[in-house]
Amino acid sequence: MFRRAVLLALAVAAVSIPSASRAQEKLEIFSWWAGDEGPALKALIDRYAKQNPSIEVVNSTVTGGSGVNARAVLKTRMLGGDPPDSFQVHAGQELIGTWVVANRMEDLGPLFKSEGWMAKFPPGLISLLSAKGGIWSVPVNIHRSNVMWFVPANLKKWGVTPPNSWDEFLATCKALQGKGLEHPLALGENWTHNHLWESVALGVLGPEGWNALWNGKMKFNDPKAVKVWDTFGQVLACANPDASGLSWQQAVDRTLKGDAAFNVMGDWAAGYMATTLKLQPGEGFGWAPSPGTGGTFMMLSDSFGLPKGVKHRDAALKWLKLLGSREGQDVFNPLKGSLAARLDSDLSLYNAYLKSAASDWKSNKVVGSLAHGAVAPESFGSQFGTVMEIYLASKNATAAANAAQAIADQVRLGK
Ligand code: GAL
Repeated sequence: MFRRAVLLALAVAAVSIPSASRAQEKLEIFSWWAGDEGPALKALIDRYAKQNPSIEVVNSTVTGGSGVNARAVLKTRMLGGDPPDSFQVHAGQELIGTWVVANRMEDLGPLFKSEGWMAKFPPGLISLLSAKGGIWSVPVNIHRSNVMWFVPANLKKWGVTPPNSWDEFLATCKALQGKGLEHPLALGENWTHNHLWESVALGVLGPEGWNALWNGKMKFNDPKAVKVWDTFGQVLACANPDASGLSWQQAVDRTLKGDAAFNVMGDWAAGYMATTLKLQPGEGFGWAPSPGTGGTFMMLSDSFGLPKGVKHRDAALKWLKLLGSREGQDVFNPLKGSLAARLDSDLSLYNAYLKSAASDWKSNKVVGSLAHGAVAPESFGSQFGTVMEIYLASKNATAAANAAQAIADQVRLGK
């Protein structure tokens, strides 16, 4: 416990970006977009600095994909009465079920109205950000969870195509192993297992079945949901055994190097490959909906909120206004590998991957992500990690399914 706290403290980095030599005011923003994940945020901060030369921006980051470490540090700061001026949080229950129910956030409904945003964001997204009569954060993007990445030339060399179902994936996995590729699927640290699981679940259950898990119409120990764990176990057998030691970027790297054929990851991977590694979408990397999920867009959205009692409220409001503006969204998203949350972004600024994602976002069925805070309350989402540990230790599908249902009952999921 102590070791974890020390490691987390060491992982917190704060980069101060003075936008003028005599900055009088400050703004501290808090996120997990560090290192390889940083360029899009940096572009947004640069734009803010240009607009507000007298404000010094303190960019506090805690490394760790999907916010696994950042959320723990944020909790300590919020409970200790030291909130950052604005922090990254997933739209949906991750925010509502924690800081909104605890009455620690400012209602941004008035800001949405004064900025004319009610008509600028999709109504479904606004309702994901809304509860108790308020709107609680400003969405900066739309990410897609259910994507499978590969290198087109490598698949050609191996004589395989992106599989259209998980059964097809398992057959392709066998064929690749027969050609000497021992671990056709590249996988990373623990949260990426949850990420893979939601793609397997969506592929096995379909969008209606997936939604039924969250509205309480299907139990987690329903035979169909148990089958998800069975399939997941077979898929895992195609992955590298050292997964827990790899970041999501390192798992992507393995695919790019040809040590694996596929990686399932959200489309921040496109940001990493196109922006950080400078690869050409379609050539350096290819993509397909994760097996069996074609026609469905599993979404999540990064957003920023305004805690009550922050030190630099005016500077934070200016930050939120930039985030929600067309200008801010079109600076950030082409680099981030995400779509603008706004309906009026300039698509000509976006690369070939993002153009294809934009067309799916318009035409596909949309469902929410579990691994990134959209569909389930934080109380379920955070305990799902334990369910995963039970499965990884026992490889017992029924035990994992029963554990998930026990947590669903405990948090009154779908009630
Ligand atoms: C997600 C987040 C993305 C990206 C990813 C990897 O949860 O929404 O923006 O940062 O984690 O860290």
